[in-house]
Amino acid sequence: MKHSIRTWPRLALAALGALAAASCGSAEKAPAAERPQEPAAPTVTEVVMMSDDEDEPVHDGKWLYERNCAGCHNTNGDGQGPTMVQLGLKARDFKQGGFAFGNTREAIYRTITAGMPGSSVMPSFKVSLEEDERWMLADFVLTLCPAPEEPASGTRIAIGAHPQIARGLLPAVADGKPQWPRGILLGTPEGVTFEYRVDDVRLLAVRQGEFADRTDWNDRGGGELVPLGKAFYVPGGGDPKPAFTAMHFGNERPLSARLKTTLATRDALGLDYELVDKRGTRLATVEERLRVEALSIGGAFTRSFAIRGDLESANLVFDLGATHGGGAWVRGEPTAWQQAGEVLRGAIPADGWLVGKRGDGFELLHVVADKNVKLVRDAASLHLFVPVFAGAEQVSASFAVTVIGASEWSEELLATLGKELAR
Ligand code: HEC
Repeated sequence: MKHSIRTWPRLALAALGALAAASCGSAEKAPAAERPQEPAAPTVTEVVMMSDDEDEPVHDGKWLYERNCAGCHNTNGDGQGPTMVQLGLKARDFKQGGFAFGNTREAIYRTITAGMPGSSVMPSFKVSLEEDERWMLADFVLTLCPAPEEPASGTRIAIGAHPQIARGLLPAVADGKPQWPRGILLGTPEGVTFEYRVDDVRLLAVRQGEFADRTDWNDRGGGELVPLGKAFYVPGGGDPKPAFTAMHFGNERPLSARLKTTLATRDALGLDYELVDKRGTRLATVEERLRVEALSIGGAFTRSFAIRGDLESANLVFDLGATHGGGAWVRGEPTAWQQAGEVLRGAIPADGWLVGKRGDGFELLHVVADKNVKLVRDAASLHLFVPVFAGAEQVSASFAVTVIGASEWSEELLATLGKELAR
């Protein structure tokens, strides 16, 4: 796979070269780099002299774009220019916004100048275009994009109408907590950002505010991908335990999560991963989806999980305690527990509400789950017991947890919020 990605740029540029040769017959100014094989191509010096000539037509951003960019990005900016179509690929769709390296004039200028780091097809125009031409192009690209919701500057990435994902080195969530070299930020148009560590797919924080600052743009070694929103939810105080463990005859076994894919479309935002045990055996595949809830008291989000168990497997336990840092549960804990082997099992409250004490406030959790998902508890906290193993059969399970921070709570508030969530 990697190999074929590496070959894209050469293919694309060759195709573009052919395109340029076909369309630019005159001696008009055209980037020399586009047709390196043509012996008669004007040298860079000649090009500069020609553009100084007052009789030359004025080359504006649109003119430059059509000659240098439209082959891949298309005249309307939708990323489906002839070169891309020919290669079965798609370039960045400017009409959707969504820039990995920032959507300000400065950031776009830098992308045009340096290309995109990694194995991308997007070439560098540092040699083939003058500085002022690159600025003109940055301005023109902005005219194709939707207006950003908030003015951003420099390396800042703002989010338009669609969710966005950025990966990089994350700063520690809290003082004295670890820094995760492989982090991922999933940002929503509502201004909520979900921050995960990639290596074990753990939710580190949920934030509200601007999306991220890509300070690692120029400095791929040590720079950081800094989330800009204020964290309103920090499970495990910035170093959370794994969300899932395996339950096997009453013994909990640690599991690790391996990220497979991420998803950010108009309709869905989330991550797909596999849960594996110490020996590397896969026990289950998880599709985790993230949703921001519009509630009267704000700051609410839902994580929903669709889980498919594998044949050789144990059942799963999802840690609800990790979500509120281990404070006491003040509502929703079953009064009657059933002993099942070593574990105590109980029903999730009929209305789905659990309330935990958190710091000087409360955390309201609304749980919607398949019938066979139960509450279990250990010394530390409450968990969800998620059966995905039934003898020799492969079983699926699903549940969703909505998390709401509140300074106070009442039964009346829960009833109101329940209605709002059901809408
Ligand atoms: C050979 C094809 C090709 C040409 C020519 C090309 N681009 Fe791109 N460009 C791409 C592809 C592909 C991507 C998306 C790469 C990715 O997402 O990994 C991209 C991405 C971009 C981005 C988005 C970077 C980000 O932050 O996500 C900008 C801005 C951009 N191109 C501007 C331009 C401009 C301006 C020109 C003309 C001067 C140009 N491109 C010419 C293929 C091309």
